[in-house]
Formats: sequence, structure tokens, C-alpha cells
Amino acid sequence: MLILGIESSCDETAVALVADGCRVRSSVVASQFAAHLPFGGVVPEVAAREHLRAIDPLFHQALAEAQIQAHEIDAVAVTQGPGLIGALLVGVAYAKGLALGLGKPLVPVDHVQAHVHGALLGVPPTADFYPALALVVSGGHTNLYRMRGPTHFHLLACSVDDACGESFDKVAKILGLGYPGGPVIERLAEGGDRNRIAMPHMVQQKNRMEFSYSGLKTHLSNLVQQAKATADLASGVGPSQLADICAAFQEEALGQIVRKLVAALRLHPETKHVLVAGGVAANQRFRALMAEQVPRPALFPAQAYCSDNAAMIAAYGFHVWQQEHSQGQGQADALHEWDAYSRYQFARAKNAT
Ligand code: KG4
Ligand code: ZN
Repeated sequence: MLILGIESSCDETAVALVADGCRVRSSVVASQFAAHLPFGGVVPEVAAREHLRAIDPLFHQALAEAQIQAHEIDAVAVTQGPGLIGALLVGVAYAKGLALGLGKPLVPVDHVQAHVHGALLGVPPTADFYPALALVVSGGHTNLYRMRGPTHFHLLACSVDDACGESFDKVAKILGLGYPGGPVIERLAEGGDRNRIAMPHMVQQKNRMEFSYSGLKTHLSNLVQQAKATADLASGVGPSQLADICAAFQEEALGQIVRKLVAALRLHPETKHVLVAGGVAANQRFRALMAEQVPRPALFPAQAYCSDNAAMIAAYGFHVWQQEHSQGQGQADALHEWDAYSRYQFARAKNAT
């Protein structure tokens, strides 16, 4: 079954064609990075306009790269939320029009949960893959799920304050390293000593499953303020100290997740695999820590599918469609009955049994 995926939740427009939920036929992404750069952050109105400009050419590019005609598509999957509402509406309206025009089913999917399917692209499905534990570690979310199947997401833990990727971005800003913070902190950390500067260990109590990042960020901010007060350097932090700070911060930001995951595996010993996805999954130290400390096979997405893309939307859409179809609940003739949503539906994921 060939699914077209469409993604427009934030500052990347993406279209992809994926066969049977795992074989990527094409995946194209248009980044809006340059359009937002002068503003120092993503401007929702600019994002929506950029999506509008990019989406149709990207659709044709995805078809051309896969050497597929539009009528060969079996269903259209689109990000319904969470994200910037104006940005989401561009993708949703385009997908609705396309599905209607082609006479194909339309499958709305959740962006956060779709990230997990980024780790399953290229992995042929096996009967005994689940139950799994899945982590989405991105700029907006730090969510830990228990999964009984490809569409079952039971939220075990999330962040009580900042998301992990957001903390990389905020700490990079404090250190004057620019945006996004993750890749530059990872690069600087490679030359640093991760044990020289002490970091607070967040949410240590063993029965507490949630994540927390704001304390770590405040600690870093205080450290830089103190360095500024005592050093002659304008930034307060010299190059070797900067590398040590990045290494120590990264170790705790990622270590916290690995500790919680190991605790969750003790509570759920039946777990067969661990899936890790989202922008932070690109981090090599994260992958090494998981390999060292997590006693289960862990799957990460290829680098191209860690950050926002439409292949993960198409892959998740395949499974959602299969499930709905088997239950006779296809969305094909209900285009008007749903719309985009801006916030992740935490209550629904917590209550999923
Ligand atoms: O999943 P994503 O592309 O967008 C969201 O849906 O949020 O994640 C972006 C986040 C940013 O906060 C960025 O700093 C972080 O992922 N990130 C990284 C790395 N590459 C991107 N964090 C740590 N190490 C990296 N190599
Ligand atoms: Zn994302």
C-alpha cells in the first residue's frame, strides 16, 4: 500500500511516499530556516506563508523522485497536530483537496507519535516486535510511551517543564552559540571533559517517571553569570571551559532520559525493543549511552528521519489507516469532521490502556 505523507507543523514543509509503512520511495523537505533567521525564532505567519509557497512543488518533486503517478497513491496521510495552527492548516487543506480530487482516503495523524515511526523506516515488520518502549525527544516534547502495537501509544512519562531539545536550544542561547543548540553543543562537547563540572541530577526519586529540564538550564545560567563576574572574558567562558560545560550539560540532559528508561524497563520487563526518535535522537552520545546502559535492542532513525519529515507521517498513516479500515472507521468520506489541533493530546495518551 502506497501512502503519501504531508508534514507542515512547524518550519519544515515535507512530502514523502512510503510503501507498506516502512519502504521510503521518496522523501523531500523544504527548510524555512533562512526565512526565520532574521527574527531569531519561528514566526507563525511567516511559516504558514512559506508552507503555502513550498507545498505544491514538493508534492510534484516527491512523485517525480519516486516515479509515481498521482493516481497510484492509495491514501493521503497528513499531520493533524500538534504544531502552529496556521502552518498545520496549509498541510491539512492541501491534503484534504488532494484526497478529494484523487478520490482517495485521508488519514490525519499525530506528529509526535509519528516521530516514533521514523525509527521503524526500513525495518521490515516482524510478528514479535512489540511490546516496545518508545521515546520522542524533540524540541517540543520528551515523551516516554509503552507500545503494544504500531498505533498503540500509552504515555508513561513526559517533561514537567522544558523539553530536552528545548533545553539544548536555551543553553546554547545562554552560551551565545546560536540556534538550533543541539548540534553545536554536541560538537563542542566532543572536546570537553564531561566530569569536570558538576551538574544537578534531575528527578532522581525512583518512583517519579517524569522528566525535568528547567533546573539544569537555571544551573547553567548561574554558572555563566558567576564566570562573567570573575573572568575578564566578555562571554565569561573560555574555549576549554565552554567544551567542558557543553559535555557536562549534554551528559546530564541525556543521562536523565537513559536513567528513566532503565527504570521503566524494570517496571516493564516484557519489553522487546526500545525506539528512540525526534531531533535529539540525532545525537551520537545519546546513541552511545543507550548502547552502554539499556539492556534491550534500541532502534534510532537514520539521521534524515530524526528531524521533521513526511516519511514518518506516511509510515504512521499506513498503520492508522490499516487499523481504522479493519474497524470500518475510514476517514475517506468525513473530510469535514475533523480539523488541525495545536497542542499534543496528553490526556488521551495517558489514558490509552
Ligand atoms: O524533532 P525536531 O526536529 O523538531 C521538533 O518537533 O521539535 O527537534 C528539534 C530539536 C531542537 O531542539 C534541536 O536542538 C534538537 O532537536 N537537536 C539535537 C541535535 N540535533 C537536533 N539535540 C541534541 N543533539 C543533536 N545532535
Ligand atoms: Zn517534530
